[in-house]
Amino acid sequence: MYEEMMLESPLGPRMRIEGREYDYFCGTSYYCLHGHERLIRAACEATRAYGLGPATGWDMPPLREVEELAASFFGTPAAKYIVSGYLGNFFLVHALKDEYHAIFVDEVSHYSVFDAIRSVGKPIHPFPRLDPGGLEATLKDRLRPGEVPLVITDGVFPVTGAMAPLRDYVEILAPYEGILCVDDSHGVGVLGEHGRGSLEHWGVEGERCYLAGTLSKAFGGFGGLIPGDEALMEKISRNVRIPVGASPPPIPAAAASAEGIRILGEHPEMRERLWENVAYLRGRLRGLGFPVEDSPVPIISLRSVRGLDLKGVQGKLREAGIMVKYVPPRGYSDAPGEGTIRIAVFSEHTRAQLDRLVEALRACG
Ligand SMILES: Cc1ncc(COP(=O)(O)O)c(C=O)c1O
Repeated sequence: MYEEMMLESPLGPRMRIEGREYDYFCGTSYYCLHGHERLIRAACEATRAYGLGPATGWDMPPLREVEELAASFFGTPAAKYIVSGYLGNFFLVHALKDEYHAIFVDEVSHYSVFDAIRSVGKPIHPFPRLDPGGLEATLKDRLRPGEVPLVITDGVFPVTGAMAPLRDYVEILAPYEGILCVDDSHGVGVLGEHGRGSLEHWGVEGERCYLAGTLSKAFGGFGGLIPGDEALMEKISRNVRIPVGASPPPIPAAAASAEGIRILGEHPEMRERLWENVAYLRGRLRGLGFPVEDSPVPIISLRSVRGLDLKGVQGKLREAGIMVKYVPPRGYSDAPGEGTIRIAVFSEHTRAQLDRLVEALRACG
C-alpha cells in the first residue's frame, strides 16, 4: 500500500527523512504543533510531576485539564478525552445505541467508522459518497416506519480532502428526528470560525449532531476527543466500558494535548495563516491546470491531468527535495480508483516553500 519512510525530526514544514532534508507536505500536523517547544515542555514537566499515567480506572490532573480546555474550546458543557481518535466513533455509536435503530454510512468513510458501526449490532446501510440524494433514497428504501436513523460520515475525508455536505444531511434527517455523527479528525482545530470543525463550518452544531475528534493532528498532541453535554457524558459512562477497563491516555500526551488546545485557542491568527496558505496553494495549482476546488481544507488532492504519471511526479518532487504523498488506487479508506497525490498544507509553510512546490510540479509537465 504505502511506502513507509523514517521521519527523523519533529513534524514540521522542513523535515529530516532518511538522512535528507525536505520541504514536507505530508501528514496531518496542520500547525506543526507536534514539535512546538511549549508542547514538549508541557509533556516533560507533567511527566516529572505525575509519571507516565495513573493506569486503569483512575484520573490525574493533566487528563482532567484536557477535558476542561476542550469543553471551553468547543463551547460545550463537557468533553471526554479518550485514548485514541480511532475509537471516537466507537464511543459515539455505543453511547447512543438506545436512541437509533439503523445506521446509514457514507460508503467511503474511514476504517474507524466501519470498525465502530460493525461492533454495535444494528443494521448498516451504506449510501453513495458525499451524496445527499443518495442518502435520502437509501433512507426511504431501508428505514421502516417509526425507526430512527443514525447517519455517520467523515467530516473531512483524509485523502481527497472532500467535505461531507453536513447541512444537507441534517435537513434530510430532520423529518426522521435522526442523529448525525461525524468523524471530524481532520476538521477539528481547522474549520469553522472558532476552529470547532465541520459542524461549526456548516452551522449545524445542535442537539442531534455529534462529533468525534482527535488531538493527534491539528492540536499537535495525542488521543481522541468527544465534546458534548452532560447527557452524552452520562451515556458514554453507561454504555462504553473502555474508560473503566483500559488505561487513559499517557500523561505526556495529555499535557501536550492540553497545551495544543491552549495555543490554538489563544492564537486564532494561526488558523487564518493556514487558510491563507490553503487558498494561495489551491489557486496556484488551479493555475497549473489541476482541477482543485476552493475549500478551506488543508488537504489537496491532485488527480492526473494530461496523462501525467503521478507516481513519477512524486519521485521527481522527492529528488527536488519536496516530499508529498502518492496514494495508490484505493490505497486508503477514501482513496479513489486512480492514483492521486495528497498535499498537506501547514500554517508554517512559507510562501517560498509553496512557490517551490508549484514550480517543481510545473517542471514535471
Ligand atoms: C478520518 C480519520 N479518523 C480517525 C483517525 C484516527 O485518529 P488517531 O490517529 O487520533 O487515532 C484518522 C487517522 O488518520 C483519520 O484520518
